Amino acid sequence: MNDFQKELCANLKKFCMDSVEPHMEHDDSEGKFRMEIFRGLGEYGVTGVTLPEEHGGAGLSYLDYSYVLEEIAKASVPYAVTVSVSSMVQFILNEYGTKEQKEKYLPALTSGEEIGAFALSESHAGSDAASLKTTAKKVDGGYMLNGTKMWITSGGIAKTYIVMARTGGEGAKGISAFIVRDGAPGFTFGKAEKKMGWKTSPTRELVFQNCFVPTEDRLLEEGKGFTVAMGGLDRGRVAIAAIGVGCAQRALDEAVKYSLTREQFKQPIFDFQGLQFMLADMALEVMSSRLMVLSAAQSIDDNKANSKLCSMAKLKATDAAMKVTTDAVQVLGGVGYTAEYPVERFMRDAKVLQIVEGTNQIQRVVIARHLKKEYENHA
Ligand code: CAA
Repeated sequence: MNDFQKELCANLKKFCMDSVEPHMEHDDSEGKFRMEIFRGLGEYGVTGVTLPEEHGGAGLSYLDYSYVLEEIAKASVPYAVTVSVSSMVQFILNEYGTKEQKEKYLPALTSGEEIGAFALSESHAGSDAASLKTTAKKVDGGYMLNGTKMWITSGGIAKTYIVMARTGGEGAKGISAFIVRDGAPGFTFGKAEKKMGWKTSPTRELVFQNCFVPTEDRLLEEGKGFTVAMGGLDRGRVAIAAIGVGCAQRALDEAVKYSLTREQFKQPIFDFQGLQFMLADMALEVMSSRLMVLSAAQSIDDNKANSKLCSMAKLKATDAAMKVTTDAVQVLGGVGYTAEYPVERFMRDAKVLQIVEGTNQIQRVVIARHLKKEYENHA
């Protein structure tokens, strides 16, 4: 970490500990999202970290962004996820949008005034995203959207949605990407999901019934929607990985602190070698995940975004988050399983990191496909 990153994280940590952490136990049990927390993160300049300053972003690197997400996740995985999905939407608009689309939609997102959401999944099209069925039928001046999107992070609280819909035949090449705003006629919200974790981040169904989207709100040309989605997900997966590192680091911190003060058999439980080995392995998982995240982030900063490395980082860091948080609950024992300590919340929040933005099985598919290509090219 350089001096700038240290200062950024120290200030952000203070904000998170003063303004986020105190609400988390209560809001987790109530399933409550607070827009003022998200806007507070916006005032800190961390809701549009990698976007250029001309669009209201902070103009920082993906390395900086990884540290930022790690820091937010140490207080709250769900708020870090809200920032990361909104940032993925900003990347998509900035990378694939027209000048007009950027000027119209980016400032409210980068400033944290509004939230962005990404709508790819459908009930039958999760891992097999290219089989999505939502249609966008060409009509005078635009498209008519019909269909239902499932499990949409920030559904209902976001204002700007990137929606993938079918304009052509079967498969990836028949998909186009659209910008749809909350309030568009024919766009409503379906059921809000009841989940194991991420309780302060709403997950909602999106319903499109003859929802008109003007042509100027299509991203790139028809048939490029899958490329738009996958390009976004490469960055998104590194962000989810960084959140996994923050989640695991917090669980490790709690486990070490507790084991140093909790006494059994007349000594701190930390002094038992069995526990020391466990904590050392947890620290190893956190550090190796962080290094992989930083390596993937660096590949993006170097304009050599490498899908294989992004998938590796996501796979490694989110599996590590699951393992480390589970072990942290074990270290704390009975109290670890109660809401008196935050480790059970971090364990519940870790689980879905292994599922979102491509399950960890899909990350292996991506990695294996790259290996095949690389080795075929060398054959
Ligand atoms: N960047 C750019 N283009 C890409 C790409 C990438 N990373 N990956 C694939 N493409 C392109 C391919 O080049 C191909 O185009 P061409 O035919 O012109 O070469 C096209 O997309 C189709 O690619 P595939 O043949 O590889 O497509 P596939 O149907 O076999 O699927 C997959 C590949 C990797 C399994 C993909 O479906 C996938 O990633 N599935 C998981 C879906 C997912 O991650 N969902 C996340 C939902 S969003 C979310 O979770 C956010 C949240 O709320 C937190």
